[in-house]
Amino acid sequence: MTRPTVLVYHGDPRYAELVRVPKGRAVLRAAATPSEAAEAVGEAEILYAWKFPPQLYAKAERLKWLQAMGAGVDWAIVPELPPGVILTRAPGVFGLWMAEYVIGWCSWVTQRVETYREAQRQRRWLDHVLPDRLLGKTLAIVGLGDIGRDVARAARAFGMRVLGVSRRGRLVREAERVYPVGQMARALRQADFVVILLPLTQETHGIIGADAFAAMKPTAWLVNIARGAVVNEAALLGALEQRRIAGAILDVFATEPLPPHHPLWRMDNVVITPHISGPSTPEEITPVFNDNLARYLAGRPLRHVVDRKQGY
Ligand code: GLV
Repeated sequence: MTRPTVLVYHGDPRYAELVRVPKGRAVLRAAATPSEAAEAVGEAEILYAWKFPPQLYAKAERLKWLQAMGAGVDWAIVPELPPGVILTRAPGVFGLWMAEYVIGWCSWVTQRVETYREAQRQRRWLDHVLPDRLLGKTLAIVGLGDIGRDVARAARAFGMRVLGVSRRGRLVREAERVYPVGQMARALRQADFVVILLPLTQETHGIIGADAFAAMKPTAWLVNIARGAVVNEAALLGALEQRRIAGAILDVFATEPLPPHHPLWRMDNVVITPHISGPSTPEEITPVFNDNLARYLAGRPLRHVVDRKQGY
C-alpha cells in the first residue's frame, strides 16, 4: 500500500515539525510559499494549511482531506476546492484567548482606562470620576459556538448577564436566553456589549447592518472578533460617526491589513487590533491535526468536519 503524502502549508516551519506521523505511515512534506506548494500539491492526499492558494486546487488530484489551521474556514470554502475533499477545522483552541480579549476590552471601557491614563499624563488626581463595572452589564453574544460559549462563561464569572443569538436560538446553559438570528434585535436592544462570533458564510455576510445598529443602545459597544465582512462596514462607519453606538472594538476587517487611509483608523471611539484576539500557534493547533491524522490513518471518522453547505 502506498503511503499518503501530508502537505503542510505555512510560513512557520514549526507547524510541520510538530506533526506526528504514526509509525511512518505517511510521507510528510512542507511548503512555505505558494510556489513550493505548487510543486508538492499534486502528491498530497492530506493538506494541513492556512489560506491555501485556491488556484492550486486544480493540481490537487489526490487530495482527500484538508485540515484548516484555525477556526474559520471561509477562506477554504471556495468553488476551486474539489467537492469530494473533506474539510475539518480546529475548534477548542481559541475560546479562552478570545474570552480574555473580550473581558480585557470590555474592562478597558468600564474601567475608563483612557480617562485615567490621560489624567496621569496631566498629573491630575481625577477622583471625581469613578469607574463603571462589568457586574450587571448585559453582554449579547452573536454566534454561540465553542468560542462564544467560552466567552459567555468568562462574562458570567464577572457577573455579566449573557444573552445569545444563534441560527436556531437553541438554549445553551452558558446564556440566560438565546434568540434565533431572525430575532437578533431583541438581544441587541438589551445589550451593553455586543460580541460578534458568527462564522462568515453567505447567510452572515453583512448581517450586522443598519438595523442592528439602530437596535443597539447609544451607550453600547460592538466587539467584532469574527470576520470583518459579517459587519456591513458602511453601516458601522455611519453608526460610529453619528454616535448611534458608543464605539467599537474591532479585531477583524473586510480588508486585512486595514489599509492606512481607512477612516476607522482615526475614529476615537474605535479600538483597532490586528486580528490577534485568538492567535493561532503551532503548539495549540497541531495536536488537533495529529489527533485527526491518527484517525484518518486508522480509517476512523474525522473530528470537526465542516458542513460545506452550511459554511462552518
Ligand atoms: C482565525 O481567524 C481563525 O479563524 O482561526
